[in-house]
Amino acid sequence: MSLFDDDKYQQYEDQFDPLHNDRQARRKRKPKAKHIAKKATQQVLEEIADLEGLEGGFKTTYVPGLFEQGWLLQALQPFYEQKLITDVLGRVKGGKEANVYRCMAHPSTGETLIAAKVYRPRMFRNLRNDAMYREGRDILTGNGKALNKKDDRTMRAIGKKTAYGQQVSHTSWLMHEYKTLNTLFQIGASVPQPFAAGENALLMAYFGDETIGAPTLHEIDLPRQHAKRVFAAVMSNIELMLQHDMIHGDLSAYNLLYWDDEVILIDFPQVTITDVNSNARTILERDITRLCDYFVPRGVSCDPSDLTHALWQKYVGKVGFYREVDVSRTWDSGDDVQ
Ligand SMILES: Nc1ncnc2c1ncn2[C@@H]1O[C@H](COP(=O)(O)OP(=O)(O)OP(=O)(O)O)[C@@H](O)[C@H]1O
Ligand SMILES: [Mg+2]
Repeated sequence: MSLFDDDKYQQYEDQFDPLHNDRQARRKRKPKAKHIAKKATQQVLEEIADLEGLEGGFKTTYVPGLFEQGWLLQALQPFYEQKLITDVLGRVKGGKEANVYRCMAHPSTGETLIAAKVYRPRMFRNLRNDAMYREGRDILTGNGKALNKKDDRTMRAIGKKTAYGQQVSHTSWLMHEYKTLNTLFQIGASVPQPFAAGENALLMAYFGDETIGAPTLHEIDLPRQHAKRVFAAVMSNIELMLQHDMIHGDLSAYNLLYWDDEVILIDFPQVTITDVNSNARTILERDITRLCDYFVPRGVSCDPSDLTHALWQKYVGKVGFYREVDVSRTWDSGDDVQ
């Protein structure tokens, strides 16, 4: 239903108008002006922006739809005030949970363009089932610190999925993405440099140009002669992450950008920590399988099961991971896990 469904408001007015059922009173009422001019769209938009509490001159070149208006500007306003962005130029892509926007960077960032990943409001999000990734993870608050598990009120709200609990879960999800991006960037992984995080959005380096964002591998026909090199680059990032106890968790051609002959890994909220999540090996194998699904038809020879086994042995298995987890949950296929 549209935000401005006239019928809906008419019904509302009819129902709650005290004069509605009082014939005498209705007769006394001043006649209504016959024609009320419709508000100009721009005026309506400005009023909504005001309703959302937006002031301070944050006007954007990109004209958001009515649906996005409130939450988009509200999410990005803090970045404008912190002098990280000066304008929103366009929408790069709408994902399942978030939209990514191309913004004009404030000179203080040293960038020209910058990407803002803005999560949709809770009710419009198509939430992934994150239970598998949450295992063993702290709940992170807006300042990036772990929530005290003795905070019963919040823990109960999360468990019961109240509106407050869902917002806490969501902020935690976003902060995990931001923290991971920071760590990965610092250790030299091929990821966008993060700049800032807010309650519903994060800012990071933008790949692409003034008109289009970098395509994902899924969107291009990667020439066979580049396939081996690109596959090796992705694998070396997987290894780097494993060296730091991390697994991407949603790796596929959809979450790999390709720009200037380089591959960039994106989309990190579900990163898994190898030594606290009993599903870690399964998650790693799924990442590698999806990768091989893309690269094998392009002439790269890779066997997901062998690769996973070798990587696990090298980076995880040898530190005695299986002492701490319930092996049966992770590994019921009977494969060799040593
Ligand atoms: N730093 C960036 N520079 C340019 N484009 C980007 C950047 N980050 C993301 N994008 C674009 O935005 C899209 C959505 O980003 P991302 O995958 O992080 O969000 P998502 O909502 O989790 O998406 P989905 O659920 O579809 O995977 C990407 O597929 C990519 O096209
Ligand atoms: Mg994605």
